[in-house]
Amino acid sequence: MKILVINGPNINMLGVREPEIYGSDTYEDLMELTRAKAREISEKNYSEGRDMVKVNFIQSNHEGEIVTAIQKAYCMYDGIIINPAAYTHTSIAILDAIKAVGIPTVEVHISDVSAREEWRQISYIREACIATVMGEGIQGYEHALEILVENIGKK
Ligand code: DQA
Repeated sequence: MKILVINGPNINMLGVREPEIYGSDTYEDLMELTRAKAREISEKNYSEGRDMVKVNFIQSNHEGEIVTAIQKAYCMYDGIIINPAAYTHTSIAILDAIKAVGIPTVEVHISDVSAREEWRQISYIREACIATVMGEGIQGYEHALEILVENIGKK
């Protein structure tokens, strides 16, 4: 089971960026935590004769690169975890890309966007996602992976 984790603009600045909102963990920490979760799920799955879980990561500050990454995931990945960051609130192109590839996708936000500015409560991509995880810090990526694996397993 191959999962692509896509992070949008400024997620590479985690740890430095507004720590009172996004915490002090870095993007490296985020990747390590998610990899560790994939290993944990893989070990459990192995004992149950189910698929191993492999995660790959892309971070980009450019909308078009994120669209291209989603397109390239077609037939290559079984699931996508995406935090489009600010593009969440603006990008019809990312919504269309997720719809185009039809890959099960979970939306993640580190902060609780539902409790922030009104415009952050708009997500263009949500309608194409099987679930949204928000306000759980970088642990939200672990949660998203669990949701994804659970849903892909059901197919
Ligand atoms: C974010 C929330 C967005 O509103 C913001 O633009 C981000 C990060 C989050 O993870 O909480 O860059 O997606």
